[in-house]
Amino acid sequence: MNQKRVLSIFGTRPEAIKMAPVVRALAAHPGFDSRICVTAQHRGMLDQVLGLFEIKPDYDLNIMSPGQDLFDVTSRVLLGLRAVIRKESPDIVLVQGDTTTCFAGALAAFYEGVAVAHVEAGLRTGNLRAPFPEEVNRTLVSRIAELHFAPTDRSRRNLLAENIPQPQIIVTGNTVIDALLWMRERVGAYPRSVWKTLFGETLFTRIHDNGRRRVLITGHRRENFGQGFKDLCQAIRELAMNHADWDFIYPVHLNPNVRQPVNDILLRLPNVHLIEPLDYAPFVWLMNECDLILTDSGGVQEEAPSLGKPVLVMREVTERPEAVEAGTVRLVGTDKTTIIAAVEDLLGDPSLYERMSRTHNPYGNGHAAERIVQELAR
Ligand code: UD1
Ligand code: UDP
Repeated sequence: MNQKRVLSIFGTRPEAIKMAPVVRALAAHPGFDSRICVTAQHRGMLDQVLGLFEIKPDYDLNIMSPGQDLFDVTSRVLLGLRAVIRKESPDIVLVQGDTTTCFAGALAAFYEGVAVAHVEAGLRTGNLRAPFPEEVNRTLVSRIAELHFAPTDRSRRNLLAENIPQPQIIVTGNTVIDALLWMRERVGAYPRSVWKTLFGETLFTRIHDNGRRRVLITGHRRENFGQGFKDLCQAIRELAMNHADWDFIYPVHLNPNVRQPVNDILLRLPNVHLIEPLDYAPFVWLMNECDLILTDSGGVQEEAPSLGKPVLVMREVTERPEAVEAGTVRLVGTDKTTIIAAVEDLLGDPSLYERMSRTHNPYGNGHAAERIVQELAR
């Protein structure tokens, strides 16, 4: 059989989580010769996901350096991919989302005359500087790609408004929901002792104490570095000091721009638990156990509604407005007073909490990867 040669390129934790269902479906389909190149824009956080989903890359550019900037990442990915794309000569390159790996991957394929398919296409805030540089990355990839896998009807309409031809856009749902549902099922089968060992006796007991409330925190957006991060950490500090019966559990991103203010402002508070980035399995477990999520993450905004968890987003704008419109996600920015008021309102008002905790699936039903592979096979 004449197989289609597909080269999937990804490099960070969220891309790996969202591409895992796709590369697994490609590997299982007889119509494809599927190859994987990881850039390793992330190292440890990428390897966590590769291990979990048993993904063995054919190429690893291993580009990460501590404190890398956008010039470093862009140039290393682009130069590293030249030889890989020339050697593989794929029929199509698959990229995902809006990272610099995604943008430079699409550009490298274009330079080599290879068609690009974009997974999670069409998300827009309309503000080129927020999120930075992701809004520009995904907008540029839309100019290059020939196939656009849009997660929602909203993202399809965004692409149509930019004159992307209709037949090139396929609404698939977001593959993050495929990954989440797969993982949630596996997590449900783990014995409780696994979590007790992982989180430690004290935190595990607090997580299961009905008299306490749990806020899960993640954050890493570049446009929040500096004052934004200091303000949001101050908000968490004040909340923790004023509510001794609330726990704040914060797996801290490895970016030094994040770790510095977090450690400066939040260390040594008895109800703030600063922990290392979690593997996807314990993170999914923890999302399920918490009462509220405070985040600036894209992926977490998509996952939380499927788990019925309210989210306060520490950003001014979002490219994922579907859950905001449905009322389960609220934008709070990084202003200290606004964050404090939003958390206190939500945890202090049972009827508001109830309304924001509705389970719904605006971003997908768990079959996105299947649709993407079907479309690629056509
Ligand atoms: C990147 C993406 C962002 C995505 C985020 C997901 C860009 C420009 N940014 O941001 O879109 O939302 O990943 O988390 O593409 N580090 C480690 N080990 C790791 C990962 C990171 O030590 O496994 C540290 C390193 O010091 C590295 C730094 O974090 O230099 C920044 O990593 P980078 O990928 O440049 O930026 P992120 O903030 O992670
Ligand atoms: N995640 C994880 N461990 C953590 C924090 C997040 O596995 O400690 C997962 C999360 O469930 C989501 C993805 O990582 O699927 C989001 O990654 P991140 O917030 O780094 O990037 P973004 O989605 O903002 O690009």
